This record gives sequence, structure tokens and C-alpha cells, in this order.
Amino acid sequence: MDQDIQTILSKANSEAPSIESRGAYEGFKATFVGPQGSFTGLRRQMGKLPKEDKPVFGKKINELKQQLESIFAEVEERLEVQELAAKVGPAIDPTLPTTDGNLGTRHPISQIMERIVHVFEKVGFTVASGSELETEFYCFDALNTPPEHPARAEQDTYYMPHEATFSNIPQKEQERYVMRPHTSSVQIRTMLKEGVPLRILSPGRTFRRDTADATHSANFHQIEGLYVGKNVTVTDLKAILDYFAREMLGAGAKVRFRPHFFPYTEPSFEVDFSAEHLGKIGKQWIEIMGCGMVDPKVFEAVGVDPEEYSGYAFGMGIERIAMIATGVDDIRYFYQNDMRFLRQFA
Ligand code: DAH
Repeated sequence: MDQDIQTILSKANSEAPSIESRGAYEGFKATFVGPQGSFTGLRRQMGKLPKEDKPVFGKKINELKQQLESIFAEVEERLEVQELAAKVGPAIDPTLPTTDGNLGTRHPISQIMERIVHVFEKVGFTVASGSELETEFYCFDALNTPPEHPARAEQDTYYMPHEATFSNIPQKEQERYVMRPHTSSVQIRTMLKEGVPLRILSPGRTFRRDTADATHSANFHQIEGLYVGKNVTVTDLKAILDYFAREMLGAGAKVRFRPHFFPYTEPSFEVDFSAEHLGKIGKQWIEIMGCGMVDPKVFEAVGVDPEEYSGYAFGMGIERIAMIATGVDDIRYFYQNDMRFLRQFA
């Protein structure tokens, strides 16, 4: 009898793992506990036993029954899990990090830069790229800014060691490299490369030897604009900047031109915006950019005939516009990478 019990148990244990359906399970169960089942047959033998053997036999039969039931239960549970998985799809691990909700966003300065570019793209400007590491020629000489001009002083501009070789920048003899103090160098690069007429916009990083405070940073961003064609006048310049102010800051934005001096434009202006409807700014005028009509000397430096062509140029600080548009009153917040600050613009 012990032999029979072992045979039944090992058959049940070895067949159980390969059962993959309810039908197979029912058949499997029947081979043990069905009317013709091996367990049923074994139990029937109890009737033929002498009375004194019955208790031991009964105990063993009961144990076997329990073991079989637990094997059946395991199979049934496994089938249930498989059926559920088939309904809900692949297994889900709730402890894995989510794939949504943690996406990064553009930095507020990049967002404003893209908005500015978009405003000008709508009226036909295309983006020209420049170089952050420049030579004095592109930053100063070609822009009619002579060596004695204060902008070229060591305390305003970052000069690089002369021995350095940066193969992508054509360097004239004895010319020094600088981290560009403004994006105006792109005017020269683009006119030399593409000729005129042209209509370009060039956003990018600029560098000054400034001590950081609420409105200054040694590393900031500008957008340069240049429009060269025939019969371009100050009226065109004023019209484009009026359009820009309203697109950027809303219909309530106002623009003010003040006469100024820049070596590369004549006449030159500084331009202030005011945006009464933008709470924090109130009625203040905020200086946004420099601009003017391209100086004939600049055209001469790039081989364009100033009798034939005229143009306007402007250069603005992106952080300034970002501060007005967002109400942020300290430029340093933009560079601290504090998530509490950045999330506001997500
Ligand atoms: N480069 C000037 C600056 O950094 C801004 C500027 C003034 C750009 C007049 C221009 C311009 O294109 O015409 O302050």
C-alpha cells in the first residue's frame, strides 16, 4: 500500500507543472479522484481490510488526500494567475519609476529666445549662427571700433592667450582671440559669407567682465538682428521694433527711441520698452537694446557698397526681455538651476 501511495504522489507531482488549461486540469484531477481514479481505487480497498488495519490505512489515505488537494490547489491557483495575466496584458511592476511626469522642459531663457526668434521669423528673418570664441576683427575692427575704444579694454572683454590655436577661426596675424562681448560679430561673419541683401537674426551667448548683481552677469545672451537691402530707412527700423514689442509683450507695450552712439551704426539709438499692463514693470521704461542704421564703414569692411545698400541692425539682451516678460527681478535666478525657480516655467 505504501508503494501505491508513493506512485500516486509522484505521478501527481510530476504531471502537475505541465498542466496549462482548465480542461487538462479536470482530466488530471479525474485520474486520481474521479470514479476510476487511482486514489478512489486505493480508498475502496479499505472495505476489504481486517478491522484492526483500518485505522492505520485510514490515516494514510487521509494524508494522501490532503497532499493531493494541495497539489490541485497549486495548479488551480497558477491557472487563475495565468488567466488574469492574459486578460490584463503583460506583467506590471508597480515599483518601477514612471515613464511620464518627469520630463524636462526648456530653460526660461531658451523659451524666451525661441519666442523672440519666432516673432522675427514671421516677418522673414532667418537664423544665422556665429561663434562664441571670436577674434578682435569680427568683434571690433570690422565694426568700426578702433583699438582705443573703451569696449576693447581688458576690464570689459575676455581676451584669450594668443598662443592658443583654434583651427575653426581664421586668425589674422597678431590678432587676439576674445570671448565675444556681443553678438554683433555675427553681422560681419554673415555679410562676408552670404553677401547682401540679407535679413538675419542671431541668438547666442555673450561674455563680459562684469561682476554679477541683480541686472548684470558675466555670461548672458543677446539676439542680433541685421537687415540689409536697398532703400532701407529708420522708418523700417522703428516699424520692426514696434511690431516686435507688441508681439512679445502685448498690444499695450510702448517703445521709446533715444539718440545714442555705437561705432557700427549711424544714426544710433537706444530703445526702451514699457509695458504698463505687465504688473511688475509698471510705467517704467526699461532699456532693451541698441540699434541704428549700419555705418558705411562697416559695409566697407565687408566689401559692400554703401552707396548701393543700406540697412539697420539691432542687438538686445535676452535676459532683460525675459525679466520683463516673466516678472523675475534678479538676473541671477536664471543661472542658479534651482528647481523651485525653474519649475514655474515648465
Ligand atoms: N552690440 C551692442 C551691445 O552689446 C548692441 C547693439 C547696438 C547692437 C547697436 C547693434 C546695434 O546691432 O546696431 O550693447
